[in-house]
Amino acid sequence: YTTQQEAAPVAPKVDYKKVAEDVADALDDESHDDGSFGPTLVRLGWHSSGTYDKNSNDGGSDGSGMRFAPESKWGANAGLHKARAVMEKIKSKHPEITYSDLWILAATAAIEEMGGPHIPFRAGRTDKTENKCTPLPDGRLPDADGRDHKDAPADHLRDIFYRMGFNDQEIVALAGAHALGRCHTENSGYWGPWTNAPTTFSNEYFRLLLEEKWTPKKKHEGKAWTGPFQYEDPSGKLMMLPTDIALIQDKAMRPFVEKYAKDEEAFFQDFAKAWVKLTENGCKNLTAEPVW
Ligand code: HEM
Repeated sequence: YTTQQEAAPVAPKVDYKKVAEDVADALDDESHDDGSFGPTLVRLGWHSSGTYDKNSNDGGSDGSGMRFAPESKWGANAGLHKARAVMEKIKSKHPEITYSDLWILAATAAIEEMGGPHIPFRAGRTDKTENKCTPLPDGRLPDADGRDHKDAPADHLRDIFYRMGFNDQEIVALAGAHALGRCHTENSGYWGPWTNAPTTFSNEYFRLLLEEKWTPKKKHEGKAWTGPFQYEDPSGKLMMLPTDIALIQDKAMRPFVEKYAKDEEAFFQDFAKAWVKLTENGCKNLTAEPVW
């Protein structure tokens, strides 16, 4: 008889350091928001990972199913086509990296480039082809209004993040990424940045949560606010979502907000750990050691 041996697939050599440098060089863009694509790339990395379900062990960053419908069309992913377009430019320079690895490396490199911690990155995610992607059910990513827990949006966060294997402390740490970027009425309906320095990764989000007076937004540019319920600071320039304010309303979560507001180093360390977990959830064949 004959044994057919399949050749073990050999991973093509990728210069991850060069990829990360090219991502860093591609961030600045005066025509996008606050001048950097960094925040939107971080959101792409998070939404590609945040579909993970530990019970069915599907979803997660391995596969990059968001390249295709239905995931690309989910309301939660509105606007992320802009981040994917930036990724195309890097992919064409480095065709040997998978989209799934690229999106996570780009988000991770952007965090550091914007002043955050260096978070080790392990490679090995593979891209699913369109017909190998079992469509995931919509609803795996969080809703800022708390969905079926509008009176206690922290419980909606628990539904979503416990499903990925996180606890309350990790939920709060991850939410600190809202130091970055802004809400766009054309994407989510909400408006505004969370912090005064939306292209800098810091603990400002936690400080503002505790120090500012947050009230329901009533007006926008002189007219009545017609968007979804959200909060604003007294200047009307900054915002918080119902799920952000939930972190200081919830008795179990609030102590972590207080900790991270006082101790940026603790925030960076805890964020880094939770980010690795988030972006590696469901990944099967990652390199033993970080490649970046
Ligand atoms: C933006 C909701 C957690 C990172 C947004 C937006 C919403 C939102 C509504 C605005 C999107 C737009 O209009 O363009 C939520 C909810 C969360 C959550 C309900 C539950 C806790 C996270 C996590 C991360 C993250 C865990 C990363 C670790 C970001 C970033 C932006 C953003 C960086 C800004 C994107 C940009 O400026 O284009 N989020 N998010 N979010 N989110 Fe979250």
